[in-house]
Amino acid sequence: MQYLPIFTKLDDRPVLVVGGGDVALRKCQAFLKARAQVTVVAPEFCTELTELAAQEKLTLVKEYFDTHHVLGMMLVIAATDNETVNQAVFDAANAQNIFVNVVDDQPKCGFIFPSIVDRDPITIAISSAGTAPVLARRIREKLETVIPHHTGKLARLAGDFRDQVKARFKSFSDRRQFWERVFDSSVVSKVQTGDEQGAQQQLTEMLTQPSKLEGEVYVVGAGPGDPELLTIKALQLMQQADVVVYDYLVSDEIMDLVRRDADLVCVGKRAGNHSVKQEDTNQMLVNFAKQGKKVCRIKGGDPFIYGRGGEEVQVLAQHGVKYQIVPGITAAAGCSAYSGIPLTHRDHAQAIQFVTGHCKKDGQELDWRGLAQPNQTLAVYMGVIKSPHIQAKLLEHGRAPETPIAIVENGTRQSQRVVRGTLSELAEKIEQHDIQSPALLIIGEVAALHEELAWFGQSEQVSSFAQPITQVA
Ligand SMILES: C[S@@+](CC[C@H](N)C(=O)[O-])C[C@H]1O[C@@H](n2cnc3c(N)ncnc32)[C@H](O)[C@@H]1O
Repeated sequence: MQYLPIFTKLDDRPVLVVGGGDVALRKCQAFLKARAQVTVVAPEFCTELTELAAQEKLTLVKEYFDTHHVLGMMLVIAATDNETVNQAVFDAANAQNIFVNVVDDQPKCGFIFPSIVDRDPITIAISSAGTAPVLARRIREKLETVIPHHTGKLARLAGDFRDQVKARFKSFSDRRQFWERVFDSSVVSKVQTGDEQGAQQQLTEMLTQPSKLEGEVYVVGAGPGDPELLTIKALQLMQQADVVVYDYLVSDEIMDLVRRDADLVCVGKRAGNHSVKQEDTNQMLVNFAKQGKKVCRIKGGDPFIYGRGGEEVQVLAQHGVKYQIVPGITAAAGCSAYSGIPLTHRDHAQAIQFVTGHCKKDGQELDWRGLAQPNQTLAVYMGVIKSPHIQAKLLEHGRAPETPIAIVENGTRQSQRVVRGTLSELAEKIEQHDIQSPALLIIGEVAALHEELAWFGQSEQVSSFAQPITQVA
């Protein structure tokens, strides 16, 4: 991070602007908005600056810049069109350890003015650290359209009730949950429609008769890895949680999006290597919820597809714990799209079966006869270790040795690899390319479409990735 975003309170603090033209004027206006005490130094001033001085909003010093002008200032701006003067301002400020900004000269900016979405007191600042101001402006425009104009009023209302809420709820977590309920309630729509009295009344009622703070578990599917595949609901719940219980399969980029101060608990889970027993994870979820916590149980892919979401939710239901389930994009869907392999295709596959290569120890054998039928696609989860067995069984039950296969490792992530081959080569390809978990096996005629469709798929749908998907023959 090149610049640390901080919001400074400039109320009556002295700041200096060197320059008397339009650029200086704009900087003065920004400072005046923050109620700073503005001094402007220049041999001449534009009309607007002179008018502002006449209204006693700022002080004009009609002099050539001299190093003593920076003394005692909090912030300094050089806004002249003379490089030598700007350099002198920069040097003088730096000599005094004062933050300085030389307009349009990013290397000489110790601080910068970000693009702002203003819903006072809510202020959103966007900066590209001088690298792409147009991009920053476009982001601001997007935010302008999605942050409602009543947001500022809502924040002011919350501010008015802050002390009362603090007195009513002693712990930070209880206060946070109270505010979450408020912002989910019709207090918001009342503010939006201008019924501020109604909003105040409702808030007072919620405060005087608060319902018992109730824990809840959100069982959230995080998708296969690309954070842009998260659903909006998943993101919202990840940001509300007090505790986040996660598996290895959830990518780091996704974990970066959970609430900053949430407690994080890793419960592991890799094939054959469960760092926390499933029963203990179930009990942990129940215990956190019974303590009144909002728990986000986040899982790779979809929680109900080989995710043990079903087992966890059964236990929550048995203990009367409230829960929500948020579907995620399952690995088969993500790997299919990001490798250009449609799972069904009118010419090649009329059915798709999701299969696990990793059964419970006492699990039954799969229906190999059914799985070996042609004109269908198999998406095999957790199939890497058992690939020799899967290959042998399918061949034994009549699937053609030349049936196309694809192995998608780290699907949808920047490190995605796609290995192509035939069924008779499945285990060999896995060994040869040292395929690591997570990887999905796609078995069926559609796998051959990878060569035809992969690049189309990448340019259309993986645009957020810096590098193209690696393909291995
Ligand atoms: C325990 S299962 C979880 C499946 C998950 N609930 C889902 O819906 O995708 C783990 C297996 O899913 C597959 N998998 C998950 N994420 C993947 C990814 N990004 N790329 C390839 N395969 C993945 C692998 O076969 C992995 O062994």
